[in-house]
Amino acid sequence: MELSKLILAIDTSCDDTSAAVTSGVTVLANIIASQTELHSPYGGVYPTVAKQAHQENIEPTIKLALKRARVNWSQISAVAVTQGPGLAPALEIGLAQAKKIASEKDLPIIPINHLEAHALSPLAVRRHRPPKKELMSWAEQLANHQLPALAIVVSGGHTEFIRVTQPGEYERLGYSIDDAAGEALDKVGRLLGLGYPAGPVIEKFAKNGDENFFKVPLPMTDREDFNMSFSGLKTWARNKLKELRAASGLTKELIFHFAASFQKGVFRHISYKLDKLLLEDDFREVWLGGGVATNLKLRQMIRESLKTYNKSVSSPKNSFSLRLFVPYEKRLCMDNAAMIGVAAGHKLWQQSSKAFYKNLEKLDRKPRWSIDQI
Ligand code: KG4
Ligand code: ZN
Repeated sequence: MELSKLILAIDTSCDDTSAAVTSGVTVLANIIASQTELHSPYGGVYPTVAKQAHQENIEPTIKLALKRARVNWSQISAVAVTQGPGLAPALEIGLAQAKKIASEKDLPIIPINHLEAHALSPLAVRRHRPPKKELMSWAEQLANHQLPALAIVVSGGHTEFIRVTQPGEYERLGYSIDDAAGEALDKVGRLLGLGYPAGPVIEKFAKNGDENFFKVPLPMTDREDFNMSFSGLKTWARNKLKELRAASGLTKELIFHFAASFQKGVFRHISYKLDKLLLEDDFREVWLGGGVATNLKLRQMIRESLKTYNKSVSSPKNSFSLRLFVPYEKRLCMDNAAMIGVAAGHKLWQQSSKAFYKNLEKLDRKPRWSIDQI
């Protein structure tokens, strides 16, 4: 088995400490040390708490990733690390650890944009155990796909439409001008007393509710661009909840209806813009990544958009149909280092001169690094 191009990857962009071992698009190990319990009393991520937890968790997490992958340091060819975007104090810990490893083991560093990694995450593949075949390379995986792709990243920090001409070549076509979709779900979930993060709880509650019970407004319909805005939805929710509490009170049943309606309202905003965007370009595939991408309702609504689009372009001569690709497991949607390793695998394969950092002192965090600036 070709194990010569193994990458040790690190992600400390927000509240989870993660380390992974990857080769091409294959994930050999993906360890995530979650800090959710530490942050839940604050109802959000508390940067100094995150930094300290990353400091404590980073070395054991890396050690465990190597152990799970059954490899040792001598087999590692490069260290990939999230350079941004993310929380500056959190990014700092991952970068410092990557630099330490790079100088101790004499390895190159591949700095990665966290959004690029979410965008490419649907292309990652699981390593079968016992390995049935060679680890899948980027070349092999790209032969299975058609480009350009539209990558949709929906997480707690970002909501973006990204045109992927090819891996490494991106154009941001639309983004949320204020809160991210996950952030809106978390904030409204907090108003409903659902804890942090509330996204997964809202999905669960929504199954018991009527998604058409409350009429949630659809934002930004007067604008031709593909940007989104979720803060108005949050304000609508706050006012509505105040009204309900003042009237008959918030029963469990109403909370279920509210969760279902608000969730649908958030996703309808994304799918409304998606419908317009699909008609503007010539995408061959759609890739979905980010923590909110685990949500089955979101996936269903995006699939419906693709179905409508496919019907509108199909003709007797043209049997083309746009398909949705999602990461192979939930852990690959959330913040994780495997996606960082997979993105770095492409740069290692291309031997892109921009990919490797030799001058470690100059390598610094980029907390606001847009995918357009790669
Ligand atoms: O990608 P991620 O782990 O971290 C960021 O980069 O932000 O995403 C976390 C976000 C949180 O807002 C969380 O509430 C949301 O993803 N989330 C979900 C679900 N699982 C996680 N939102 C809706 N439905 C879910 N099942
Ligand atoms: Zn993320």
